[in-house]
Amino acid sequence: MWHTPRIVLLLTSGVIPVLVLFSKRRRAQNLDDFPTVGCSFGPSRCFSNFYVGASRFLVDAPGVLREGYEKYGNRPFKVATMLRWTIVFSDPKQTMEITDAAEEDLSFREAMKDIMGVDDTLEINADSPDHDLLAELLKSHIARNATKICGEVQDELLASLENVLGNESDADWTSIPALSTVNRIMMQTWQRFFVGYPLCRNSEWCSLVAKIHKDVSILSVIRRIVPSWTFRFFAKMASNLEANVNRATMLLGPVVEACISEVDEYAVPGQQKIDFLARLVKRSTGEDSLLKNLTTRLLGFTIAVASTPSNTLTHALYHLATNPDFAQTLRDEVDPIVQRDGWNVQSVANMRKIDSFLRESARINGVSSLGFFRQAMRDFSLSDGTFLPKDCFIAVSLPPFHRDSTAYEAPDEFRPFRFSDNPEHSMSTISPHWLFFGYGKHLCPGRFLLTHQLKVMFAYMVSAYDIRFGDEWTSRPPNFIFGEGVVPNLSAHVSYRRRQAR
Ligand code: HEM
Repeated sequence: MWHTPRIVLLLTSGVIPVLVLFSKRRRAQNLDDFPTVGCSFGPSRCFSNFYVGASRFLVDAPGVLREGYEKYGNRPFKVATMLRWTIVFSDPKQTMEITDAAEEDLSFREAMKDIMGVDDTLEINADSPDHDLLAELLKSHIARNATKICGEVQDELLASLENVLGNESDADWTSIPALSTVNRIMMQTWQRFFVGYPLCRNSEWCSLVAKIHKDVSILSVIRRIVPSWTFRFFAKMASNLEANVNRATMLLGPVVEACISEVDEYAVPGQQKIDFLARLVKRSTGEDSLLKNLTTRLLGFTIAVASTPSNTLTHALYHLATNPDFAQTLRDEVDPIVQRDGWNVQSVANMRKIDSFLRESARINGVSSLGFFRQAMRDFSLSDGTFLPKDCFIAVSLPPFHRDSTAYEAPDEFRPFRFSDNPEHSMSTISPHWLFFGYGKHLCPGRFLLTHQLKVMFAYMVSAYDIRFGDEWTSRPPNFIFGEGVVPNLSAHVSYRRRQAR
């Protein structure tokens, strides 16, 4: 998110509002049945009112959503998000219905396509019959090979962590930019999963993926607000996307070639190769099997899931650095488990306090104030009669669930060990009051693997290093709010040193 100043500059310059005015993207359905929140004047379909609301939402989405909740309770209301009007729900019954709705009624895929913009930006053919292959493969691949994948991801994580943090100071404190360092470590770890060893350790590949991610993030914002016929022009002006994707395609080529020959060799039933890329290569057909298309789809997917894990870990790290005393309680749990059983799926699963700390941090901060984005594919009514016109966008506000005082005692307080005695309240367990990984039809298939990864990384950092903030922060640095996104402070540094004996 370092590119934010450029985006803000674009959004606030005179050019973008004019383009938005003429853009077909700001769909104008009749949503008058839903009260408007966050825009203070004029009829809701008036452009200036929309723009005022969208600007406010950009910098204060949590405040806008809180205002809606205070004014209208569980009734849905609409807010202007830079892209369009979005109808926001917070009623539990309506939410459950949304999470279970059929794709033909309320589409998750269409909403994601529009919000993330990855398909358009990377010119991925979203109409290909195999478009959902990656998500499907991921679900079955993780489900079948969970232990092996967790082991590989863990190896890569520990190697990358020691590589980035390891050789620095033993007794002296070293200061590092927290979010970008966590991003670096996560990047290498997830590349092990997506493209395997040794490409995941190729610094040019990792740097290209990071650059493409940055380009896609900038372009997906621009894409939403400029008329589609001007987009390629802006894309060329604002990025080196094409050149970077071409280079990434060249680097991936030999790995794909190797997969193709291995896929043949391993075609004997029961001996299939089990890494993700090999499965993707094996299952892709027609145009989707061309190297460039394989590369863009793989990159698109990697990018779509790239920032949330880093943000989640960094949120927790900031809580720890603000309260270094929590480390001892965590070490009292981690040390005996690791001494007895080492690092593996079962031993990490037994780290209840680590789990609770991460879940509590994710409950308090989240990575987004809104979830369950859906686009109505036809005029559609919920069972209580709430009418959603075709093409409208809806979402669910998450704080009313995660800070519900009937479910959580003192819901606004960070209590890191509040879940540690109850295994039913673990990070990856789903309940109507814990929607971090979704609920219903599109529940996150990466959640077990991700929880394992986050726990290993956090537990290892706590047990191997002392971590604190330097003098510049006396309390937790404020989160950076960008629309519904809740990003840990972008510029904060944390200090660390090798753990000192007590
Ligand atoms: C902290 C990190 C993550 C969070 C908070 C998260 C959260 C979510 C949520 C809330 C959904 C459901 C969205 C909805 O119903 O509208 C979802 C879906 C999904 N997630 Fe994650 N996710 C994370 C990381 C990952 C990772 C690392 C992967 C891949 C390895 C992944 C793969 C997916 C896929 C493929 C879906 C779509 C499932 C479907 O098509 O039904 N996620 N995720």
